[in-house]
Amino acid sequence: MALLARILKARLRPAPERGPWQPRPTDARLPARARAEDKGAGRSGAPRAWGRAGGPRSLAAMPGPRTLANLVEFFWKDGFSRIHEIQQKHTQEYGKIFKSHFGPQFVVSVADRDLVAQVLRAEGAAPQRANMGSWQEYRDLRGRSTGLISAEGEQWLKMRSVLRQRILKPKDVAIFAGEINQVIADLIKRIYFLKSQAEDGETVTNINDLFFKYSMEGVATILYESRLGCLENSVPQATMDYIEALGLMFCKFKTSMYAGAIPRWLRPLIPKPWREFCRSWDGLFKFSQIHVDNKLRDIQCQMDRGERARGGLLTYLFLSQELTREEIYANLTEMLLAGVDTTSFTLSWAVYLLARHPEVQQTVYREIVRNLGERHVPTAADVPKVPLVRALLKETLRLFPVLPGNGRVTQEDLVVGGYLIPRGTQLALCHYATSYEDENFPRAKEFRPERWLRPGNLRRVDNFGSIPFGYGARSCIGRRIAELEIHLLVIQVGPGGWAPACGLGFV
Ligand code: HEM
Repeated sequence: MALLARILKARLRPAPERGPWQPRPTDARLPARARAEDKGAGRSGAPRAWGRAGGPRSLAAMPGPRTLANLVEFFWKDGFSRIHEIQQKHTQEYGKIFKSHFGPQFVVSVADRDLVAQVLRAEGAAPQRANMGSWQEYRDLRGRSTGLISAEGEQWLKMRSVLRQRILKPKDVAIFAGEINQVIADLIKRIYFLKSQAEDGETVTNINDLFFKYSMEGVATILYESRLGCLENSVPQATMDYIEALGLMFCKFKTSMYAGAIPRWLRPLIPKPWREFCRSWDGLFKFSQIHVDNKLRDIQCQMDRGERARGGLLTYLFLSQELTREEIYANLTEMLLAGVDTTSFTLSWAVYLLARHPEVQQTVYREIVRNLGERHVPTAADVPKVPLVRALLKETLRLFPVLPGNGRVTQEDLVVGGYLIPRGTQLALCHYATSYEDENFPRAKEFRPERWLRPGNLRRVDNFGSIPFGYGARSCIGRRIAELEIHLLVIQVGPGGWAPACGLGFV
């Protein structure tokens, strides 16, 4: 392991910036189902707030920060970068269910494992995550379709049922392992190149940038069935433009958040967020459209030659004709948007944790060598043979979930924690806060991947304490892709090491 550690010193940035899309309130549009019970209330520590007459209390009685304080926190003190901290702070101050106003917007936050489980288990066939008003407005403005993230109701159901057939289950994505391994081979070449350029001949810095390019190349290989060249020495200009557009959306200006939070009437006074938001979307759609069109042209040529078109996701979408061309553009644009920094930040945190815990790095390394052998290029079927690698990912996402919460708009009146939450209320389900509770995860602040190896200790409901991919019908559709990309990379580039006569390690 000392050898591994010597070869690659991956100096990590300790805290990659988050790229969340976060909830905003709206009316629920779908018909209500049965009223959910207040199952969670009453567990030790869970709030119960019945009114004097014995019925649920109204939202007026719910505690929460003052509107002005909240506005200052988010707009003055850059709270959109610290949603996870604010979530924890408010949970400590106001309890496990509290309300917040953001100007005209109203959100009820739920930071209790059982109450989160109750809300999610009660949801209907087409849950609504948040008000996607600003996303919808852009699409109306440019005559674009919505994709899986921004669509609602019947349209979302239709698109989800098409896409889920190809990427929702581990066995569906297992077929992409070969393509992902090719991207990993390119990443390794790139690491060796960067090492050769380094002053000390061995230290690779800015690993987050490297993982960003890996994640983008990996997911694009699956989505567009083509390579983008992110890991080349000279990255193509179109790909650079895309990276800039993505950076604009999430990192530099938290554009998506501000564009959604600033009301339309204020835009003439504060025009920048909306302008940047549109510019960013223009870039994202343009890039996706170029790659979709290229692939579809290839498929069409194949068919014109009388050949049978074979391929992955895009070929399937084109041939099945279940989605329109515009819907294909929109879905691939939104999936690429959702599938790059989520995966790369998780990888950065996983590697950071390994670097900080060399004893865990050793154990993972030994497991990989014992169960798969050294310098083994794994398939998807190999992943279950290294349960510690899977546990590493779960523990990383528990401690550093890319999205600190999940959003839901209630589609019926609900009683949660003793409060009556009317239909159409925006809920923020705070899994960052629940992930750090000792009650849910003993010694919660500690990095202990082995906690995930003992399923006997975790009752099923405990999993609601950490739901980094969300839950249910509206959960992350790219989860299996992300897991495959991360597992295969950790096995080859991580502590297991790779490459003739040496391995790679993180210090
Ligand atoms: C570590 C990586 C990832 C994390 C932590 C993550 C997390 C999430 C979360 C929390 C949600 C919301 C779930 C809910 O509301 O219940 C979500 C939704 C979504 N994710 Fe991911 N994601 C990751 C990777 C990916 C990838 C690789 C893709 C695409 C290939 C992707 C595509 C999507 C899409 C399209 C949605 C919206 C689904 C819908 O509304 O039906 N994600 N993701």
